[in-house]
Amino acid sequence: MTQKTKSTARIYPGTEKNIGFLARILKQGGLVAVPTETVYGLAADALNAKACRHIFEAKGRPTNDPLIVHVYSVSDLEKIAETNPLVAKLAKAFWPGPLTLVLPKKPCVPAIVTSELPSVAVRIPSHPTFRKLLKKSGLALAAPSANPFGYVSPTTSEHVLNNLGNKIRYILEGGASKVGVESTILDLRNISKPTILRPGGITKKAIELVLKKKIGRVLKKTSSHKNHVAPGLLTNHYSPHTPLILKNRLTLSSARTSSPNEAWLFIKKPKGKLTKNSFYLSKSGDLKETARHLFSKLRALDSGTWSRIYVEKAPGNGLALAINDRLARAAAKRSI
Ligand code: TXA
Ligand code: MG
Repeated sequence: MTQKTKSTARIYPGTEKNIGFLARILKQGGLVAVPTETVYGLAADALNAKACRHIFEAKGRPTNDPLIVHVYSVSDLEKIAETNPLVAKLAKAFWPGPLTLVLPKKPCVPAIVTSELPSVAVRIPSHPTFRKLLKKSGLALAAPSANPFGYVSPTTSEHVLNNLGNKIRYILEGGASKVGVESTILDLRNISKPTILRPGGITKKAIELVLKKKIGRVLKKTSSHKNHVAPGLLTNHYSPHTPLILKNRLTLSSARTSSPNEAWLFIKKPKGKLTKNSFYLSKSGDLKETARHLFSKLRALDSGTWSRIYVEKAPGNGLALAINDRLARAAAKRSI
């Protein structure tokens, strides 16, 4: 996926001067790749339909896959979405942070942002450099992950440069994303029935504790982006080019006896001497660390010469559900 030769993009450190410059670019309808605590996003003024159309073009993303809008504060959220009593509770507990709420939209949000749905997905991110840009620009920023549609999400500015370097001009530096998987998307259109549309950085249990009730989760995945209950649920998303095979558990002895062209990716560092074709996501098996390293490791393995990547599921619930959701989709056969 390296496209360094024709790169038009430049990485801007998050200095005050650069933030001022990039805020002006956004106000003029330009695109800027931005760091967030989950993954890097490709941002444009959410109320500028033409600017948002450019996001879809740069990513090669179908326009029936709606964008997440990022705002600085709850009062900024109120300008674009209808709130309800649950929003205040969730905001207090989880914002700024990796939780996206789907709410009825206000008329100022252009149809291109929401794929003509009457709802808008919105979140208040916590990444300090991104927050400076949101504040300085005074804009609501629509930003999907800054990867070509269907490929593994980016967690560093270099990932963005490698993937979209010839499609965009501005990348704001913010270091490696700390959460590493995308936000949890909670559908609040029907407040008596909050439903998780995509598992992510905030667990279902944590949300249930705050709302003091059980919430549902959409389990049915679709492999067609024509049918978009929640388009982020496409089965074949996040896919590396190298075939990926998801197993319940891997063992070092299978790595040892397999073809040396096959990579074995463990969640936790296995006991015993690692073979040249074995890798792990966390030394101790910590799930936060696993999530943080997931996309970088998949990208690194994908840029090698492996014929196949075996990977194991994360054990348990909570963040494991978000990790396994991404792995299952990375392993799904591409059909787009
Ligand atoms: O962590 C994140 O959420 C990252 C960072 C950049 O904030 N963004 C991200 O955006 O993951 P993206 O475009 O990769 O995922 C957006 C997904 C859509 O695919 C869809 O599932 C859901 O958000 N979505 C957006 N608007 C929606 C709506 N109105 N109703 C239902 N789902 C919606
Ligand atoms: Mg994405």
